[in-house]
Amino acid sequence: MTESTALETIAQAGGEVTAPFSPDQVRALRHEIQRFLLQYEFGLREIETKLSILRDEFLELQDYNPIEHISSRVKSPESLLDKVARKGIGRDLDTIRTHITDIAGIRVTCSFVSDVYRLFDLLTRQDDVTVRTVKDYIADPKPNGYQSLHAVVDIPVFLSSGAVTVPVEVQFRTVAMDFWASLEHKIHYKYRAAVPAGLTDELREAAATAAELDARMARLHRELHGTSG
Ligand code: GTP
Ligand code: MG
Repeated sequence: MTESTALETIAQAGGEVTAPFSPDQVRALRHEIQRFLLQYEFGLREIETKLSILRDEFLELQDYNPIEHISSRVKSPESLLDKVARKGIGRDLDTIRTHITDIAGIRVTCSFVSDVYRLFDLLTRQDDVTVRTVKDYIADPKPNGYQSLHAVVDIPVFLSSGAVTVPVEVQFRTVAMDFWASLEHKIHYKYRAAVPAGLTDELREAAATAAELDARMARLHRELHGTSG
């Protein structure tokens, strides 16, 4: 029995796995996938801890909280399989480990664009954090208007069997960018590939408005606090 069948079986059956696998086999498969995904869960926790330490230190030293909200998730087996199919890669866990770097994902929503870059710097400068890729969609927004700063970082996780390195995708964005992205996501989900052209244009304009708001809020913030923001 291969690992690919493991993932598929669990995903498709949604937990109720029947033939051709015996209950023992299914238990073993589920265990294997849980162990695989657990490493990513641990990677998330490491990064979340780092971010919350940075936040608490900011609060203590500067009486200022640069983070509005943090959310995180480990990809479900179903969504992992979708991505495997989209990318056309092998379905064994080793291949998945190598090619899919957003199994663990964290979204950090900040008040201001300056906080986005500051947190990115403070996190990625840490000795045990290795940056794999950075995509700066703030400096260079996507054609649809999407803005965010994405980084895939490697973080070591120490298990009883030794250390493993886990990639975590961290998305940094402002509240305004987050507002836009959630709406765009809903629209995209509703229309799939066929978003009406008028709506696409409006979304692009709304993204520009969100960026203007970010700039205005930063100016006001600077007036209030002097240098920061
Ligand atoms: P994925 O295969 O979707 O992970 O894309 P990718 O490998 O090209 O990476 P990219 O950094 O472009 O996007 C990763 C993630 O950023 C996505 O899964 C979304 O969470 C978010 N994202 C990227 N582009 C958009 C967008 O146009 N709209 C919204 N709402 N979210 C986006
Ligand atoms: Mg993704």
